[in-house]
Amino acid sequence: MFWTLLSRSSPVLARFFSAVFVTALLGSGGVKGQTNDRYDSFRFGVCYYPEQWPESYWEDDARRMQECGVNTVRLGEFGWALMEPREGHCDFSLFDRAIATLGRHGIKTIFGTPTAAPPKWLTHKYPEVLDVLATGQPVNDQSRRQYCYNSPVYRRFSREIVEALARHYRDNTNIIGWQIDNEMNNENPECYSESCRTAFRTWLRKKYGTLDELNARWGTVFWSQLYSDWAQVDLPFPTPAYHNPGLMLDFKRFISDSATDYLNNQVKILRRYRPDDFLTHNGVFKNINYHAFSRGLDLYAYDNYPTFEDSPRYPIGAMLTLVRGLNVRFMIMEQLTGPAGQTYLLRTPRPGETRLWAMQTVAHGADGLLHFRWRSARRGAEEYWYGVLDHDNVPRARFEDFKEEGQELQKIGPQIVGSKIVSEIAAIKDFESQWVFDNQFLTKEIDISAVYEALFQAASEQRYNIDYIGPDADLSNYKLVFAPQLALMDDKLARRLQRFVEQGGTLVMSAHSAIKDRDNAFTAETIPIGLTNLFGIELDSFQTYQPPSGTNNDVHFDDGSEVPVNVFAEVLHPTTARIMGRWERDYLKGSPAATEQRFGKGKAIYYGSLFDLDATRYLIKRYAGETGLKPLLADVPAQVEVTRRTNGRTDFYFLLNHGDSPATVNVGDGYIDVLTSQAVSTSLKLAPFDYRVLKREQPGG
Ligand code: GAL
Repeated sequence: MFWTLLSRSSPVLARFFSAVFVTALLGSGGVKGQTNDRYDSFRFGVCYYPEQWPESYWEDDARRMQECGVNTVRLGEFGWALMEPREGHCDFSLFDRAIATLGRHGIKTIFGTPTAAPPKWLTHKYPEVLDVLATGQPVNDQSRRQYCYNSPVYRRFSREIVEALARHYRDNTNIIGWQIDNEMNNENPECYSESCRTAFRTWLRKKYGTLDELNARWGTVFWSQLYSDWAQVDLPFPTPAYHNPGLMLDFKRFISDSATDYLNNQVKILRRYRPDDFLTHNGVFKNINYHAFSRGLDLYAYDNYPTFEDSPRYPIGAMLTLVRGLNVRFMIMEQLTGPAGQTYLLRTPRPGETRLWAMQTVAHGADGLLHFRWRSARRGAEEYWYGVLDHDNVPRARFEDFKEEGQELQKIGPQIVGSKIVSEIAAIKDFESQWVFDNQFLTKEIDISAVYEALFQAASEQRYNIDYIGPDADLSNYKLVFAPQLALMDDKLARRLQRFVEQGGTLVMSAHSAIKDRDNAFTAETIPIGLTNLFGIELDSFQTYQPPSGTNNDVHFDDGSEVPVNVFAEVLHPTTARIMGRWERDYLKGSPAATEQRFGKGKAIYYGSLFDLDATRYLIKRYAGETGLKPLLADVPAQVEVTRRTNGRTDFYFLLNHGDSPATVNVGDGYIDVLTSQAVSTSLKLAPFDYRVLKREQPGG
């Protein structure tokens, strides 16, 4: 309360106290929990669409939500047509009443700015706002996400509605945060409108200055593509043959910058009127560099629908790891609640799975969890997307599950909020390097997300936390860093990798890394460019295997292990490195496949194929062992996932049984069950899909 009052009346003072408070609370030294004064407590709740239901339902909805432990809803994000029924005429009264009703039950609101679904009057009167397909055809407006980030008209209307909202709710104490737009780049990750064409030319002019520079860096002499006028430069519309890789990468950068700029337009307005509210955005989709995109926000939100995966444990763990590695904290804005579908229907979660998946997000660092949605829609494109309540408003098993989850999180949330996952292993995630493969995909087996999934799975199986970090992130806190398929290299990154190893780190880089510069072009340097000294190798040649590549060759390591290839079998020429693995078969037999070299106080390892599950399992085992990393817990059956969050004094262990059979975990002494506050016995039994959250004070904590 003190907090809210203080921050509403004096944000500057509040920030000062926040810093003092956090430092005092967490003590000095060790790991500090993350916190900021705009987001300071665990939020639990639902996505709520009051505009889709009779007002007579609202009071009862709020009462039932409160009964379930809900403290937060997100609403508003698709309500523009109601908020501004006619151009320039705003009416927020429906939302005023809904927010007040919820407020009376102690429920706060995250307001979604409604710009993901423009009203009909707008798209019909100003069709230039529409997103345009690569064929040049504007999309139809009878759904959502049909707009162009670069349309000056759309930008103006977006600013106006957001400003009207922010001004209207300037003093509303029931609103605590804002979600800007909804899932940008979902459903339309590219746009070919006239506005984008013009904006792309401006963007390129700013980047290159002159056409000579652009021609040189894209290498447009190839296929007679030299530009002599800026008006000739264009978006990558369909062409008879392939596009220039420089153009393709810049197009992605441009889309990402356009989305970021569009987002920040709204950030600016909301900060002006509501400086104490937290700002967020939800979802992870194509063509956005989320490290840059999230920078202006207070936390990032992920929308988590595990049944899109056949076997969600590792892919979702990897996604949560990615979101946690952005520049800000994270929460779940939309969590799967039950069966789900639009024209299709995903598999129905088995009893216990939805709660397990919800807790998996908290286990990976989420500081808030909202389910999608409160009640299943009776009409509209998502009639099959089941909410907490069924269409008939009758509470059944999903309601009971949700209620139990809410009651648990009322106990767990306040204890773990702000605590974070600390890892000694990291994998560098460079969105730009990843985008290279969107265009030059090379073979059907190259899949960058699968690489990060493999890294996550291998680390998780061996009971280590792992972080994914941006190419600019501080490496000094890590002992073991993976550089997976970092196709693009630059001096700055090369220097940072070198410094990390010099100072004692272990770096493991995969094939097809450091092959090009940031123009997405090959150079006169020998591969790995900028890193031949660090690794003590030069790339001699490579063999590409078509699917299924794993049957074609193996790396035979010096400890007798054999690891099958994935796509590439690179032949390395060691200059100063020691050969630690050789190709096993065919005409490559005996040639160097993996090397290591001491460099400064650390070690640089080059692995001449891609990081798939076989490779990551082997490499993590070898180098986590060698660098002396300690697994989170020792005696845990394979079906149980373990993560650890810490606030610098207390460690929180999450044990999640992903199996449909019971499992026993031997945890050892000194653990307290966070839910019951009771000491736990050293041997714990977990029912199918069940979980436990334990805590233990750090020595001297
Ligand atoms: C998300 C979206 C929601 C809803 C949900 C279920 O992608 O943000 O509005 O569509 O999926 O499909």
